[in-house]
Amino acid sequence: MISHLLSISDLSKDEALNILDTAEELARVTETPVKKLPTLRGRTIVNLFFEDSTRTRISFEAAAKRLSADVINFSAKGSSLSKGESLKDTALTLQAMGADGVVIRHPASGAAARLASQKWMTGAVINAGDGTHEHPTQALLDAFTIRQHLKNSSGDLSDLSIAIVGDVLHSRVARSNVLLLSKLGAHVTLIAPPTLLPVAVNSWGVEVKYDFDENLDEYDVVMMLRVQRERMDEAFFPSEREYSRRFGLNGDRLSRLSEKSLVMHPGPMNRGLEISADSADSRKSVIVDQVKNGVSVRMATLYLLLGGN
Ligand code: CP
Repeated sequence: MISHLLSISDLSKDEALNILDTAEELARVTETPVKKLPTLRGRTIVNLFFEDSTRTRISFEAAAKRLSADVINFSAKGSSLSKGESLKDTALTLQAMGADGVVIRHPASGAAARLASQKWMTGAVINAGDGTHEHPTQALLDAFTIRQHLKNSSGDLSDLSIAIVGDVLHSRVARSNVLLLSKLGAHVTLIAPPTLLPVAVNSWGVEVKYDFDENLDEYDVVMMLRVQRERMDEAFFPSEREYSRRFGLNGDRLSRLSEKSLVMHPGPMNRGLEISADSADSRKSVIVDQVKNGVSVRMATLYLLLGGN
């Protein structure tokens, strides 16, 4: 097993499947009345969040606690960052407090890799989202959720057709999912306006479309992406109404999806923009399952990286 989780490209297919299989085992254990395992007793995990988060931060905290680790939560708001402290000095401070693992979310792409490569901390580094680069545990929990509902006999995602729709340009979730879903054998299609696709998207090895309605009934999974207004410093589409009309999942498109298809969204959602309330709350939606599965997948990641046995 790798010593840090910085990008999905760090994982072989077997390593990715091992995390998903381990998460399945751990999900079974934590369904018992006593949810805790003693595996990481005496170890300390630091959640180092320089950007806002609800799901990722809380589920890493729950995962670490269910493995009996001690958890230190650091958030940029209220810390000495406001006094100009650097990432290096913050990391050295946390290392001095005895961190065995650090979960980092940072607005700069590459921040997690820098923390790992500079060896300011000796423990495992887990990327919980770095700028527009990657969010590997989100992709793992998404793959876990797809497998839970559409598992095939080989245990991977081969023969599944998965559409990732929306603001691909600013989405670290899309980047990690393209890498992981392709690695697991799925056929991935990106659907977005040209302005919300990266310049180099043709080198990603996936299909690209500009029309959400084309062959809509052929997707097994439709994964909607949040429009990331906070990363937009210019207009990427004429109006929200126009975006929603062309790229939003609404009741009409929902009714044209195939019977067994899944609707996903990493959250937080802009209800009424990229996804309508009836789509988000429909019986096809597995959005709540994604959040729930985040805990098991993050338990598996911590367990495997920190050498639980
Ligand atoms: N999906 C996701 O990363 O959500 P949070 O920003 O709430 O952690």
